[in-house]
Amino acid sequence: MFPQEIIRHKRDGQAHSPEQIQALIQGAVDGSFSPDQLAAWLMAAYLRGLDSAETSALTLAMAASGERLDLSSLPRPWVDKHSTGGVGDKTTLVALPILAACGVTAVKMSGRGLGITGGTIDKLQAIPGFRTDLSPAEMVAQAGRIGIALSGQTPNLAPADKILYALRDATATVDSLPLIVASILSKKIAGGAEVVVLDVKCGRGAFMRSLPEAVALGKALVTVGRESGLRISALVTDMDQPLGAAVGNALEVREAIGALMGGYQDPVARLSVSLIGEALALAGVVSDRSAGEDRAREALTSGAALRKAQEWFAAQGASDALWEDPDAVLPRAPATCRVFAHQEGWMGQIDAGIIGQAVVNLGGGRRRKEDAIDPSVGVVVHVEVGDEIADNEPLATVHARTDAEAEAAARALSEAFSIAPDPVAPRPLVLG
Ligand code: URA
Repeated sequence: MFPQEIIRHKRDGQAHSPEQIQALIQGAVDGSFSPDQLAAWLMAAYLRGLDSAETSALTLAMAASGERLDLSSLPRPWVDKHSTGGVGDKTTLVALPILAACGVTAVKMSGRGLGITGGTIDKLQAIPGFRTDLSPAEMVAQAGRIGIALSGQTPNLAPADKILYALRDATATVDSLPLIVASILSKKIAGGAEVVVLDVKCGRGAFMRSLPEAVALGKALVTVGRESGLRISALVTDMDQPLGAAVGNALEVREAIGALMGGYQDPVARLSVSLIGEALALAGVVSDRSAGEDRAREALTSGAALRKAQEWFAAQGASDALWEDPDAVLPRAPATCRVFAHQEGWMGQIDAGIIGQAVVNLGGGRRRKEDAIDPSVGVVVHVEVGDEIADNEPLATVHARTDAEAEAAARALSEAFSIAPDPVAPRPLVLG
């Protein structure tokens, strides 16, 4: 099959056969499709769309383009949790230990942050000694021992996605629903999952800004995931304000430790319970999501999830001192500056997009994939939407490398907070 033939087919709005999609992905990996031909196909697919059968074929072909993590020696079900990316989203650090404490094997490949959205690997790398480069064999052995393992993506996992994603980035074809769906799901399948719970973020700090867009992404992921053989469901969750208080890698680890130690009040803990409740129901461990939430909440409040997190972190190289005195172990930025309210009222909006950008500007995130990041910097937000606010109340604290950077971030952050004269309802965490 000539590349030109496949490109022409999509350019003219025709649906691909699974064989055409297979040839395209094979060609991307073995080099028989040139980057220009792949880019031309991507634009044709962006403009003409792919139906769910084509997207499933693309997902499966991309998943099979490299190695697949073999979890067959581990007890079933093999469950994964995936977030589409947000600001302050440290849920995986709490959700995975809850899952493992409920007796379900949790093996996960995670990514780095890009743009304003953070990545779990960056957060875990803020912990001195924490290894995020486990080999597939090490992951499986560790999960067999303690029920939980997490690592960065191995280079051979879904290599077609790496090739296509770089071209999408360079050709303005990232924001295509079928291409996003195939990209996300191919990596889940290659990572060995058979049950997947998705956290589709919605709002100013997310890829999908509006509820209809986020619901459309969630539905497309679930439809194609099912067609591709996964047991899968999606929650659409709020990302208009940051999730929890901390944004910035070490600060987020500190907050996740607090959520694991402190029971159920933290928004991160509550969202983790909702997601794992859904995962336990999907996996058939309990009859429905409400029973799953009860089981997940019990794992958290009894301390079982905390003990699982301690085993997990120790297995991947973190010192036990982290749990005794996190502030002494985690890197801390030398300069701080606070942001204050200039009027009284009720917190109407906390713009996660502005806060995420401020953390990138402080050095806590990347502008380009190859940038280094500073794990110590970030922002801690002291209020939530709906809180009553006094004049001059501290709204946030910036943690920065220098006083000048802290003050510049504090100035930018004052735009993130809008105080209303009348009471404002708190935002629900789960939108749909
Ligand atoms: N996340 C991915 O892994 N791929 C996309 O295309 C978008 C978000």
